[in-house]
Amino acid sequence: MINRWFFICAFALLINKVSLQVTVEGFISGSVVLPCSSTEHDLTLQDTDVHWRDKDSKIVFDIVKGEDSIAEQNSQYKNRVETFPDEYKRGNFSIILTNLQHTDAGEFSCFITPSDEQKTVELIITGSTAEKGNNLFTIWMTILTCVFLCYLHQLFCL
Ligand SMILES: *[C@@H]1O[C@H](CO)[C@@H](O)[C@H](O)[C@H]1NC(C)=O
Repeated sequence: MINRWFFICAFALLINKVSLQVTVEGFISGSVVLPCSSTEHDLTLQDTDVHWRDKDSKIVFDIVKGEDSIAEQNSQYKNRVETFPDEYKRGNFSIILTNLQHTDAGEFSCFITPSDEQKTVELIITGSTAEKGNNLFTIWMTILTCVFLCYLHQLFCL
């Protein structure tokens, strides 16, 4: 008998997977597009700043008053960021991160002012065993918990 707990757990597992934030996947020494789009329709580019930050709040890239700015960029990202200036007027501030390393795995956020928007994207580096192992561990723990709850439920309710 497949009981209620199993459904609840499977559902929770599914929600967990689906509601996970935007993720992009890249390969070592490859490159990825980190997406960031404003939902604002009439943004004035000359007044718009975009701040790209990594998981440690290091400066990945800045767009100041609609212009690319690498003055404050962290050395870790030097010469590794490509932009699409033609897309800015469409509110698309996506960037390309090149020459990917294991250490790049994690969250990247872009903050758009003055519209006060924040978009976060999780970068997964394929072949990064730590990240993958972690994910698998979580999934297995969830399954085990489900099976256990299933078992308990049968003990008490059958
Ligand atoms: C933003 O621009 C990049 C580069 O042209 C493109 O790959 C991406 O699809 C664009 N995103 C949106 C939401 O238009």
